[in-house]
Amino acid sequence: MKKIYIAGSGGMLGEAFYKQFKDSFQLKCTDIDVNESWLSYLDFRNYENYLLDVKDFAPDYLCHLGALTDLEYCELNPEEAIKTNTSSVEHAVKISNLLKTPILYISTAGIFNGKKQFYDDWDKPDPLCTYAKSKYDGEIFVQKNSKTHLICRAGWMMGGGPKKDKKFINKILTQIKNGAEELFIVNDKFGTPTYTHDFAKNVKLLIENECNGLYNMVCDGVTSRLEVTKELLSIIGLSNKINVVEVSSEYFKNEYFAKRPESERLINKRLNSENRNVMRDWKVSLKEYIDMYFSDYL
Ligand SMILES: NC(=O)c1ccc[n+]([C@@H]2O[C@H](COP(=O)([O-])OP(=O)(O)OC[C@H]3O[C@@H](n4cnc5c(N)ncnc54)[C@H](OP(=O)(O)O)[C@@H]3O)[C@@H](O)[C@H]2O)c1
Repeated sequence: MKKIYIAGSGGMLGEAFYKQFKDSFQLKCTDIDVNESWLSYLDFRNYENYLLDVKDFAPDYLCHLGALTDLEYCELNPEEAIKTNTSSVEHAVKISNLLKTPILYISTAGIFNGKKQFYDDWDKPDPLCTYAKSKYDGEIFVQKNSKTHLICRAGWMMGGGPKKDKKFINKILTQIKNGAEELFIVNDKFGTPTYTHDFAKNVKLLIENECNGLYNMVCDGVTSRLEVTKELLSIIGLSNKINVVEVSSEYFKNEYFAKRPESERLINKRLNSENRNVMRDWKVSLKEYIDMYFSDYL
């Protein structure tokens, strides 16, 4: 069994990595938030501790998953964002080079400026906010300095369920749980949902096939926040009970003040060309996500 160290795996994506990887690999999963029995504590901002913990486990692969993912928090705390999302990636690359272990880094569709409708793996990023810049700088560092690496870019993440999902799906479902009869949804943001379990399975395939380099990795199909909301309401059978009010991003300018691209739609061009795309249609994955994680929630 290959040994895999997964740093920052207490969040949405880490949960899916653990579940998809645990039967095929020997794992060590760490985070600063030890919220599962299979996690242990490691703050990857501390290079010495990170190195010692990885060295001690002697993995065949180092997955550097964790980040500060709240865009507004990053905007207000840029030094912390850089330390966590960029400098810690530098630590991971140094460790991976030192131990001759390949590394996986997770990047984001949010690094583009949104002027194009679709972005493939070769389009040039142009980040608009602190979070996006900190993630893109991590990407550049990995590309320039790591000998053997995988960089996988995710889109609008769906996963983790009520306990861990910090993003759109859980925010909408929480409003509904709290009795909302009306949802205010932006009609000017476009992207590609990314189900954490599909993503973890696709990463596993790339690791098993010893693939290297950069891959866009999002669910099939392109969409908008508005369409995701309508599909979600249809899945939970509340399309006729809840009113969706279309608004522009201006409506949320105080709450969501970090600058976001209009379009962050990715195309899995490289995965497709290598015949290694196992990401499913976002509607299929959304239904599975809701059925698996939210059946008792509402
Ligand atoms: N969520 C998205 O929509 C999205 C989209 C594209 C790409 N990504 C990328 O996907 C990766 C996984 O994100 P996610 O969606 O799983 O986010 P998440 O749920 O916020 O999980 C990230 C985890 O990293 C932990 N972490 C933060 N600082 C750390 C540190 N110094 N040392 C160790 N662990 C630390 C977090 O702990 P705390 O909760 O205590 O901070 C959290 O448990 C990230 O690299 C993110 O940039 C996310």
